[in-house]
Amino acid sequence: MNARLKKNGLVASAFLATSVDGFIAREDGGLDWLVGRGETLGDTGYDDFFASVDALVMGRGTHDIVKDFDEYPYAGKRMLLLSTSLETTDWPDATLHRSLEDVLDTLEREGITRVYVDGGKTVSTFLREGLLSEITISVAPVLIGHGIRLFDQFESDIELEVIATRELGSGFTQSTYRVVPQPEE
Ligand SMILES: NC(=O)c1ccc[n+]([C@@H]2O[C@H](COP(=O)([O-])OP(=O)(O)OC[C@H]3O[C@@H](n4cnc5c(N)ncnc54)[C@H](OP(=O)(O)O)[C@@H]3O)[C@@H](O)[C@H]2O)c1
Repeated sequence: MNARLKKNGLVASAFLATSVDGFIAREDGGLDWLVGRGETLGDTGYDDFFASVDALVMGRGTHDIVKDFDEYPYAGKRMLLLSTSLETTDWPDATLHRSLEDVLDTLEREGITRVYVDGGKTVSTFLREGLLSEITISVAPVLIGHGIRLFDQFESDIELEVIATRELGSGFTQSTYRVVPQPEE
């Protein structure tokens, strides 16, 4: 847990979609079970969420999928890529970081407090360190059996408090949770 950043007012949030069985992608990163299913989703709140953050912290696994999108979806936002293996990036306003500590130092140095954390392992890293404040999960009405899980295994329970739950279109449900700070925080 990094108390220094909590003190500096970091508000890190995640906004993801899962299958009912808790996967964010197929093993090969495929999102076919998600994309195309949500044509009548309605307003998911994503645009407001995106507008509310100053920067993204993204794991390399998500980068590797997004880099093949036709259009870069994060234009205008500072991007911190977390990876021990990526050598370069040509994304605008993006920097590479080898460790969470380096990400935290950079956010502090640049005075960035409102952060969108993306990628299963990266979200779990923030949760494990007590650095995630809020998480919104939209659940698609499908079981895909295997794939990349949203959450790692944690050594102890992480309590969540539900802020809102609602039905979206296309059979999706969405819940937003506040992460309850652990006692030592
Ligand atoms: N359904 C959704 O809403 C949604 C949202 C986002 C992503 N996705 C999908 O999820 C998949 C990627 O998820 P993922 O579980 O692979 O997680 P990820 O967080 O995107 O990427 C994991 C990688 O990030 C780097 N990393 C994470 N924590 C680190 C740390 N503490 N220190 C150094 N490096 C760290 C490592 O890169 P290195 O191996 O280079 O060290 C690690 O292998 C993609 O297929 C993406 O499309 C789905």
